[in-house]
Amino acid sequence: MISLKDIRYVRIGTANLDDAVRYATQILGLELVRRDRGTAYLRADDRDHTLAYTAGNPREQIVAFEIGCGELEAAAAELDNASYRVRAGTRLECEQRQVDSLIMFDDPSGNAIELVARPAHSGRRYFPSRDAGITGFSHIGLHSIAPRTDEVFWTTVCNARVSDWIGEAPLLRIDPVHHRVALFPSKRSGVQHINHQVESIDDVMRSYYFLREQNVRILFGPGRHPTSGAMFLYFQGPDGMIYEYSSGVRLITDEEGYRPRQFPARNSSYCAWGAVPDIPEFETRQAAGV
Ligand SMILES: [Fe+2]
Repeated sequence: MISLKDIRYVRIGTANLDDAVRYATQILGLELVRRDRGTAYLRADDRDHTLAYTAGNPREQIVAFEIGCGELEAAAAELDNASYRVRAGTRLECEQRQVDSLIMFDDPSGNAIELVARPAHSGRRYFPSRDAGITGFSHIGLHSIAPRTDEVFWTTVCNARVSDWIGEAPLLRIDPVHHRVALFPSKRSGVQHINHQVESIDDVMRSYYFLREQNVRILFGPGRHPTSGAMFLYFQGPDGMIYEYSSGVRLITDEEGYRPRQFPARNSSYCAWGAVPDIPEFETRQAAGV
C-alpha cells in the first residue's frame, strides 16, 4: 500500500499567467515565490510552493502528494502491478518542482497525480500578498467519473480512509485532518476545488466582504459543513477554478474507533446553516427548503 504523507501542491494550467498570478496574490492572498517565463510558483505556508500556475491549457491539472523518502520505487512497482502507467519525473521536472524525485500516473478517473519525495521546505516564513488569514494549503476536491471505483483506488492502492460520504462522494483522509481529498461525481476528470485553511471565522467573513467588493463571484457560503465541521466560503477563480477558504476542520484522532458516516445527497449535508451551493458537483436536485 502506498502511504501518502501529505497533500503537497496543485499544478494547473492557465490561459493568462499574468491574470492568474494577479488573482493568486491580490485576491486569494498567496505569496509569489518565483516565476519563469512559463510557470509561477506560489505558496500558502512554509513549504517551497503549494500552487503552480503554468501558461497553457487550463485543463492540465495535477495534484501532488508527498510520500516517504525511499518509498517511490516501491510505489511505482505497486502502481505498475495494478496496471497503472507510471512515469518517473525527469531531472528538469524534479528541479522545477523542487523535489528530490517524482513519479506520475493517472487515477482511475484520469486525474493526473504526482508522488514526490523530499520536497523542499522554505527557510523563510510565509509572507502573504494579502492578509487573508491563510494558515496553509489543506485539501482538494477532484472530479470523479466513477466515485466507487476511485474510492477503491484511494483506499486500497493508497492509504486513504473514508471519513464521511455525501451521497456517492467520499471525503478521504490520509492524516488526522477530516479530508485531504474529496471525490465528487462528475462527467469529467480534473481538480474540482482547491482549499486553503484560514485562521478563524473572522477571516472567512472578512474575505466574504472583500471578495464581494472585488466583484469575485461567490459560489457557496458562508456556511458550515456538517461533515468536517469547517466554516467555509467557495468562490470563483481564474479559468473556472473554484477556490475555498475554510476554518475549523475536524481532526480524527481515534483511527481505531472512528466510523465513516453516510450523509444523504441534500443541501443540508453540505451546509448546516442553509447556504445553497452554486456549484454543479454539489447540486442535489432536491426541492427548495429540504
Ligand atoms: Fe472543500
